[in-house]
Amino acid sequence: DTASLQLLVPLHGVLMGKEIVDNWERVEQFQARPDDVLISTYPKAGTTWMSEIVDMIFCDGDPEKCRRETIYNRVPYLEFRIPGEPSGVEQLEATPSPRLVKTHLPIKLMPDSFWGKNCKVIYVARNAKDVAVSYFFFHKMVKALPDPGPWDKFLDDYIKGDVGYGSWYDHVIGWWEKRNDYRILYLFYEDMKEDPKREIRKILHFLEKEMREEVIDKIVHHTSFQEMKNNDMVNYKTIPNELMDQSTTSFMRKGIAGDWKNHFTVSQNEIFDEDYKKKMSGTNLHFRMEI
Ligand code: PPS
Repeated sequence: DTASLQLLVPLHGVLMGKEIVDNWERVEQFQARPDDVLISTYPKAGTTWMSEIVDMIFCDGDPEKCRRETIYNRVPYLEFRIPGEPSGVEQLEATPSPRLVKTHLPIKLMPDSFWGKNCKVIYVARNAKDVAVSYFFFHKMVKALPDPGPWDKFLDDYIKGDVGYGSWYDHVIGWWEKRNDYRILYLFYEDMKEDPKREIRKILHFLEKEMREEVIDKIVHHTSFQEMKNNDMVNYKTIPNELMDQSTTSFMRKGIAGDWKNHFTVSQNEIFDEDYKKKMSGTNLHFRMEI
């Protein structure tokens, strides 16, 4: 319906929440600091998971310190804004360094300041099919997002890039192509599921930090899906029901690789694969669809 369509408007060719577009000037002019660490993802790729991991690292593996605030206040969401609340930019301006910053922006929309200050970026990519499923359930939960309609229709919109933050393809490929031009650590959700400790070591190396084995183990434990699902500082249960309704599905929904198999029909999968091959040809970016 038209009411919900108006929630998303194009910004330089990418569909974005209207509230974000209205605040765009402030985002474009954002002043990064050299020790900012940016966590960048297409929506539903593992943002919250990575945020908790990096905050645990910043807190030297002390879970109590991570409980000081909700994840969306510890890692402000750069471009986000709801009227009447401090915007992501305002939150960040009030945050002492070193700051953790969350964004879902495609690389071409990133404020220049991050590159000027040579900030470190951790990008998390997740396979296109699991993101589609997770994003579909997220739309059912979040009142500010358009009603996704039935799964079939949402999948169609998603394939075309007619969803918030635009095309998954443009996003993952855009960041991938620039990974060697800036200080970008490009990681995969599926790798994190397979061996979280190995991926945490990569993050530590990238952040030039060292940690004792048992501290790394503690981070792995604290950031497991089960722990995070039951942790109100990261599971978004602190968001009022009117904004995010977790009564039929939850933010910490399944947390696995390959759940798409429970939702894609054989025919949807064939259509998806054919389109996928075309859009991913010419890249050397490869995803595992299950582990
Ligand atoms: S958001 O709204 O874009 O910031 O969402 P995001 O955090 O990127 O993605 C949410 C999905 O990540 C899953 N998740 C996890 N998976 C594994 N381990 C841990 N610790 C974890 N934490 C969150 C979450 O369950 C969502 O995926 P689905 O497939 O919907 O379960």
